Amino acid sequence: MRERKDSEPAIATGTPVGVVGAGTMGIGVAQCFAEAGYPVVVVDPDPAALGTGPARLRAGVRMAQLLRRRSSASTGAGAGAGAGAGAGAGAGTDADSGTDSGRGTGAGRGTPAPSSPSPEARVVWSEKLSDLAPAFFVVECAREKVPVKEEILRQLDQVCGPDTVFASCTSCIPITRLGSFTGRPDRVIGTHFMNPAPLKDAVEVIRAPGTSEGTVRRTVDLLAEIGKQALVVRDAPGFVTNRVLMLTLNEAATVLGEGTADAETVDRIFQECFGHPMGPLRTADLIGLDTVLDSLEVLREFTGDERFRPCALLARHVAEGSVGRKSGRGFYQYPEQRQRPEHHLVSRGGASHG
Ligand SMILES: NC(=O)c1ccc[n+]([C@@H]2O[C@H](COP(=O)([O-])OP(=O)(O)OC[C@H]3O[C@@H](n4cnc5c(N)ncnc54)[C@H](O)[C@@H]3O)[C@@H](O)[C@H]2O)c1
Repeated sequence: MRERKDSEPAIATGTPVGVVGAGTMGIGVAQCFAEAGYPVVVVDPDPAALGTGPARLRAGVRMAQLLRRRSSASTGAGAGAGAGAGAGAGAGTDADSGTDSGRGTGAGRGTPAPSSPSPEARVVWSEKLSDLAPAFFVVECAREKVPVKEEILRQLDQVCGPDTVFASCTSCIPITRLGSFTGRPDRVIGTHFMNPAPLKDAVEVIRAPGTSEGTVRRTVDLLAEIGKQALVVRDAPGFVTNRVLMLTLNEAATVLGEGTADAETVDRIFQECFGHPMGPLRTADLIGLDTVLDSLEVLREFTGDERFRPCALLARHVAEGSVGRKSGRGFYQYPEQRQRPEHHLVSRGGASHG
């Protein structure tokens, strides 16, 4: 692996992209870069997450390929065209946006030729952050807790070269706060990928006052290389997406808890009256109720606004380990998707939260 010149696309030199966290978002983000031809190193300290990571990534790649084939069959167009019914990890769902269904496969522009190594073969899995030393760009996708991200960023700052950009997939934490944990706030930026990342065409990019122009440019260019459009916003708790969405999800859980309607009816009202693809409760299940709860707590802490206090039903589900699709149960049951419930109990410190 030779050193990369600033003007040279990193893909030409085999310089890896780093991903921290092998959960819902980390796997999706790793898939996006691997499908575009980048070597990727994924780091997670949890052996269960690392153990199931390759199979989850393979399943995501297969789903994206299936959607691309379907899309070209139905439109007569080439790979990467809109697939319409967003599926994949979310099977026709769309979280952290609650609006459009998954369009296309996201990996359009950078999709390598069929003879190249498979995307899975480009991904290396590790429990050590020090394995990210050669990365030119690291996307942090660990849990939505300030102390967790602080520890990771402080370590990355020691491990990676001074030029490496740290991008966070945080849902709500201000990028200014994350940048303050490093000696390079000018190279810290938010890349809020939507879920499922490989099926979404746009990324909310958060530019803090301290983020340099060069970092914004590098990030926007890199996202373009993997077929994603960057929508750049200023730094604020929850940015644009989750400032609005998390309040909606919390209120939907509140009306469910108060017995105003059952879950199916709440979601159908949003689908059939407002044209939303899935409704707020299914969206919350897809995001992960633990992530929704963490996000609301972060929003409440950073805005001081009690409107973000997580409702009792949401807290109860999380305390019971019913964290949505990824655990097989949330506001709905997902018997076919019981992937790694033990991981979610372990990683929440015994599911005592809430
Ligand atoms: N789920 C969504 O729909 C969604 C969408 C956009 C952004 N996000 C954000 O992305 C981030 C990840 O969310 P997720 O849903 O993938 O969570 P997740 O719970 O599915 O995965 C988090 C992963 O981080 C790992 N982790 C914990 N501590 C770590 C550490 N010190 N180093 C490395 N890895 C560590 C855990 O083991 C776990 O595998 C959060 O900040 C979340 O707010 C989530």
